[in-house]
Amino acid sequence: MANHLILGIESSCDETSAAVLRDGNEVLSNVVASQLVHADYGGVVPELASREHLRAIVPVVREALLRAGVSYGDLDAIAVTEGPGLAGALLVGITFAKALAFGLERPLIAVNHLEGHIHAVLMDSAFAGASPLLALVVSGGHTHLYLAEQHPGSTWTYRNVGKTLDDAAGEAYDKVAKLLGLPYPGGPWMDALASYGTADTTLFPFAQIKHKATGNTAAKLARESTEALEARRFDMSFSGIKTAVRRYVELHQMQPPIAAREQSLRAMGLHKARPDEANVARALPHFDARTLNLIASFQNAVVKNLSRSAFRAAEHYAARGVIVSGGVAANSELRRRICAAAAERGLSVAFPSIALSTDNAAMIAAAAWPKFLAQDFAPSSLEPVPQLRLG
Ligand code: KG4
Ligand code: ZN
Repeated sequence: MANHLILGIESSCDETSAAVLRDGNEVLSNVVASQLVHADYGGVVPELASREHLRAIVPVVREALLRAGVSYGDLDAIAVTEGPGLAGALLVGITFAKALAFGLERPLIAVNHLEGHIHAVLMDSAFAGASPLLALVVSGGHTHLYLAEQHPGSTWTYRNVGKTLDDAAGEAYDKVAKLLGLPYPGGPWMDALASYGTADTTLFPFAQIKHKATGNTAAKLARESTEALEARRFDMSFSGIKTAVRRYVELHQMQPPIAAREQSLRAMGLHKARPDEANVARALPHFDARTLNLIASFQNAVVKNLSRSAFRAAEHYAARGVIVSGGVAANSELRRRICAAAAERGLSVAFPSIALSTDNAAMIAAAAWPKFLAQDFAPSSLEPVPQLRLG
């Protein structure tokens, strides 16, 4: 089986994307249209997202074929995100993919968005054959830990071994950024500004999540049945840290300077800007040391939580490597800490390229490849599953 082309389509949230992949890992094109309309609302507005997907889907798919230098007739299969995501947004991609598959008489492949994030790493990492792997998928909508296992015939199965019990890590980043008057989306800005502050490691304690099956004494551990051990969860929580930031802001009466800063950044046209070097340099004089230290402390706490849970799970399940994916995988401190922890334990670790960290269709086409080989096709009645789970 060689030289097969899969068109991937992704429309689960606020990115309309189409990509053409050859044999599951050679990216011929990966077009991503990000919706800017949401910046004015400080979060994704579902109705606007659907409308923007409708507007973008045809030109984005056309552009992906053009850049790949292929025509519709060259495609061997159409892959599309089935869920999880916004119902109306998913529907646009699925309807378009179904029409294409029907019209071209090609198979349709349904992909779980979270599996897509995992394949964003697997498609170009050096993990060939290593299994099981511990995957941390961390974005604005998800914070999940999976044990990913590869089987003969190269199909993958996943087991969810932990997740956030409240906010996703990226969501906590964005909410705290909003609270501090930072531009949208706030995660990348928090990351860029954190290096100018000093983290106070006592501000936000580690959120210890206890489950019934989790004993904390050696004797109790020894009594645990294999089944109970199997059920051990590595769950996380981020809303406590977010609330602690809010309390800190109130306690230190930081609201007036925050409001002033928000106005200044808006006046400078930075409220929708990316935190590149020049923009950060322009914004920096509007931040006092207390705010920068608070940002650094928040980042330190979130990253520590993510890293600790991931490595505890990796150790428990004897994972042979760790992969990190999703929008927050772009975070510099998370990369630094996870690389250091992996090196300490002699574990290999992989992140997606920055282009594949955020939502894109290349990862959807990559995740579809093992399904294409196994002829695991979707029915023409495929519908969005907004709450679709993995594992
Ligand atoms: O995967 P993604 O593009 O979309 C979904 O949420 O599915 O992830 C976007 C999230 C946002 O919450 C954004 O603030 C966060 O990823 N993010 C970051 C960084 N870059 C993106 N959070 C922290 N540090 C970053 N460098
Ligand atoms: Zn995503």
